Amino acid sequence: PTPVRPAPVKVDADADVDDGRKRVTIFFGTQTGTAEGFAKSMVEEARARYEKAVFKVVDLDDYAQEDEEYEEKLKKETIVLFFLATYGDGEPTDNAARFYKWFTEGKEKEVWLKDLKYGVFGLGNRQYEHFNKVAKVVDELLQEHGGKRLVPVGLGDDDQCIEDDFTAWKELVWPELDQLLRDEDDTTGASTPYTAAIPEYRVVFIDKSDLSFQDRSWTLANGTGVIDIQHPCRSNVAVRKELHKPASDRSCIHLEFDISGTGLVYETGDHVGVYSENSIETVEEAEKLLDLSPDTVFSIHADAEDGSPRKGGGSLAPPFPSPCTVRTALLRYADLLNPPKKAALLALASHASDPAEAERLRFLASPAGKNTIPLEYSEDCNWAPIFVRQSNFKLPADPSTPIIMIGPGTGLAPFRGFLQERLALKQSGVELGTSILFFGCRNRNMDYIYEDELQNFLQEGALSELIVAFSREGPTKEYVQHKMAEKAAEIWNIISQGGYLYVCGDAKGMARDVHRVLHTIVQEQGSLDNSKTESYVKSLQMDGRYLRDVW
Ligand code: 2AM
Repeated sequence: PTPVRPAPVKVDADADVDDGRKRVTIFFGTQTGTAEGFAKSMVEEARARYEKAVFKVVDLDDYAQEDEEYEEKLKKETIVLFFLATYGDGEPTDNAARFYKWFTEGKEKEVWLKDLKYGVFGLGNRQYEHFNKVAKVVDELLQEHGGKRLVPVGLGDDDQCIEDDFTAWKELVWPELDQLLRDEDDTTGASTPYTAAIPEYRVVFIDKSDLSFQDRSWTLANGTGVIDIQHPCRSNVAVRKELHKPASDRSCIHLEFDISGTGLVYETGDHVGVYSENSIETVEEAEKLLDLSPDTVFSIHADAEDGSPRKGGGSLAPPFPSPCTVRTALLRYADLLNPPKKAALLALASHASDPAEAERLRFLASPAGKNTIPLEYSEDCNWAPIFVRQSNFKLPADPSTPIIMIGPGTGLAPFRGFLQERLALKQSGVELGTSILFFGCRNRNMDYIYEDELQNFLQEGALSELIVAFSREGPTKEYVQHKMAEKAAEIWNIISQGGYLYVCGDAKGMARDVHRVLHTIVQEQGSLDNSKTESYVKSLQMDGRYLRDVW
């Protein structure tokens, strides 16, 4: 069972009330939300560790209306943490800009922060000249003004794994906070590690002789009936190739399936679902470790026996369909080859009854243990069960309608299909409307995938304009949305002529930023006020002229 954790202490609306509780303020300067996310996760963890302290997460812009207020309020703080991202040419994020300007414009304040203890974690990218400049400057200045630095400034590097940098920095912070925040009579002790809540499920083993048992996992289509998610069809891999160029240290694989004779049909813009399975050797090993026979049948439930929600279990659906056999679960649904995530290792550690095993799990979760987990690679398979999922991500019915496509990275995939279709139309004599593709990648010599094909679409007239943003070539990040801003007039022209706009790729960062830029373009080019802009963009979506396939 999950160890019982005290409910998080509610934050007081008025943090100035002196009720003897220690207060910690956690500031963030964020652009895309990473710094804010770190700040919030730190607070969540801190609240579970230090029940009696009061934690507050604060957007630097919201902290003070006037510059003087920054000084007034900061003077009253005793413990603060800063999460500060650095952008472009060593600049702060928008929401930290006012604070940064005020703080660095060196009024002689001498030692005015003598009651302050602080820590700073920076978010930056080592590829840039001014790596983590904002964090470094704030860290230095806090000390110059009398603050006591609790831990060295954290230099998060987005080029590597910034999560790891954050975790490593946190591990330095906890012992310091232990000293400052733990009560003398607190018997939980400083060594109680916080672990993320893990979902609990109810597992029922089913007697194999029970004839009502029905395996709920998918079965291969038998060649006569429908092919769907429950009945994928077996297809051979026809082409497998690496798309990244030799200079890249990452990989992106192009796979083609031969569906001749399967009866499978699809349209441009649809999705292909691929079921992958673990190799039988791996599965047999896992069965041995679990000491379960492969034909054991079980079912897994998110609710309690009487159908009510499980206490503390949350509302997570079971991770896979059941009843099924242990063999099926391990073959199809268990990730047996990837190293477990840090949070999972820590959760397992807190459940381990053998202290040595718990210790080992905690080591594996630490930055030092990270690389000691053996990695096995699955062999290339030459077939897979596949199915088609229809989408509404389709070309306009009239090929003369102009289109704008935005698809950095693997978001390019459906547009390659669109362009192949337009090329075929063109070759059969159909008149095509304008088409612009915004593509983005890190570097033209590494991950500019399908470059030759794209050039060919241009040459053949299936594509009118190709605009590529390279994010790691110059001194500043160039993203698709920056290129869109440069082409604002052209984009507005197409949209206002009844054109279509498509976005495909990463939802959290890219699609959100592209949406913002689109908003700005519509507002500025169309000279609309904020609410008119909103309803304009909404109506584009309602009309099916602004389509997104994002994940
Ligand atoms: P980056 O990795 O250098 O940050 C495909 O992944 C491309 O999308 C990469 O060049 C990547 O840049 C970029 N990318 C990352 N975040 C993005 C965002 N929020 N908006 C647009 N492009 C982004």
